[in-house]
Amino acid sequence: MTERAQFVTRLGAIAATVGSAVGLGNIWGFPCSAGSNGGGAFLLIYLGCVFLVGIPVILCEFVIGRGTHKNVSGALKQLAPGTKLHWFSYVGICASIMILSFYSVICGWVVEYLIQAISGNLSSQSSDEYEKMFGAFVSNPWRSSLWTLLFLLINFLVLRRGIKKGIEKVANLLMPILFVILIVFCVNALTLDTAKDGLSFLFHPDFSKLTPKVAISAMGQAFFSLSIGLSCILTYASYFRDSDPLFRNATIVALLDTLVALLAGIMIFPVAISFIQGTGDKDSFELVFVTLPNLFNGLPGGGFVWSVLFFLLLFFASLTSTISMSEISISFFQEEHGMSRTKATGVNTIVCMVFGVLCAQSFGVLSDFTIFGKTIFGFFIFLSNDVLLPLGGVFFAWFVGWFIDKKFVDNQLTNFGTSEVSVWRKPLMFCIRYIAPMVIVVIFLYGLGLFDAIL
Ligand code: PHE
Repeated sequence: MTERAQFVTRLGAIAATVGSAVGLGNIWGFPCSAGSNGGGAFLLIYLGCVFLVGIPVILCEFVIGRGTHKNVSGALKQLAPGTKLHWFSYVGICASIMILSFYSVICGWVVEYLIQAISGNLSSQSSDEYEKMFGAFVSNPWRSSLWTLLFLLINFLVLRRGIKKGIEKVANLLMPILFVILIVFCVNALTLDTAKDGLSFLFHPDFSKLTPKVAISAMGQAFFSLSIGLSCILTYASYFRDSDPLFRNATIVALLDTLVALLAGIMIFPVAISFIQGTGDKDSFELVFVTLPNLFNGLPGGGFVWSVLFFLLLFFASLTSTISMSEISISFFQEEHGMSRTKATGVNTIVCMVFGVLCAQSFGVLSDFTIFGKTIFGFFIFLSNDVLLPLGGVFFAWFVGWFIDKKFVDNQLTNFGTSEVSVWRKPLMFCIRYIAPMVIVVIFLYGLGLFDAIL
């Protein structure tokens, strides 16, 4: 048997995991959710979710993945032999396929806009023209589908090269560039006249805005942004080395992911504060593809540079996320079904191409086709984000907190006793066993409207 691949360095492992976490969810989703849910109040709940639920669930996935060095199904089979618990791996695999399908549609739009920006078409239009251009593009039956397919092809080409030469190399290259672009944007935003208004909206919590809806959005945002609940982090952790410190890695990943979300807020709020305060979730496409390109024209240096940088940032952030989503099923096909890397990557790509085109057509010829009142695109978002990810989060917390051997968990958290026992271990186990599952279940039931009758 050939030896299983690993990330070569600890930094590479962190870069890849942060690359998975940092994506459209941070740079676009976070400012939009914060904007439509009261700014600072949302931020506070978001931070609570990251620390009380996010880090514990990341660690649960780390423990299972690194402890077994297997794909999600193989890992559950090893840790729960003789049970049917490995069936749960299909929840993560289905969620990853759904997320990859709708996500790559937006990535396809990003590619189109990146090319438009590079060819100078985004820097010379009136605000009406931006609106028309976006409307015409997404409703064109084939154009956005073609970009979706192209994006999935790029994703395929990276993944086919494997863990070291594909995922780790791309993450090591793209993550530093991403941070530099973000910082350039933030420095520019801080020099604008509207900087103060933008920042005070983001950082000044207005507690009258705190409602159950804000809590639901914050938790959904945290799960999606940290890539947890679907075994993506578990799969990456299965490529960690035995010497990697799990608790420290989990904290670094969560902090960097949160930092990028905050930097995205700092970069976008001063530029688009008046638009964002009135933003509902439905307008978030408009923010990225209509409002920002238009507003970039007014920035020092002109629209060309800023729109190229912005869509490049989105492109890099999304590519490092989509490769991580795909790795869940690729590792599963390789290890459980004996496929070669190329074949496993090909199967994943073809399945997502089919669903991706269906999602793209939700804005075109399939716009009238609905499931529970949602287009295919909307239904995939709902089912994965609002149902499957929280379900996965509770499962992993229960599995690590209650089901598997305590000694196994301890060995992973302390690298077999070779690293110091962190003072955080007790509070962390408390969060894994009680706080995280309780918070997720309560917020999840709220989301489904189950408390409406009582409150
Ligand atoms: N975390 C990514 C983002 O913020 C999205 C993602 C979700 C990636 C699930 C992998 C798995 O955009």
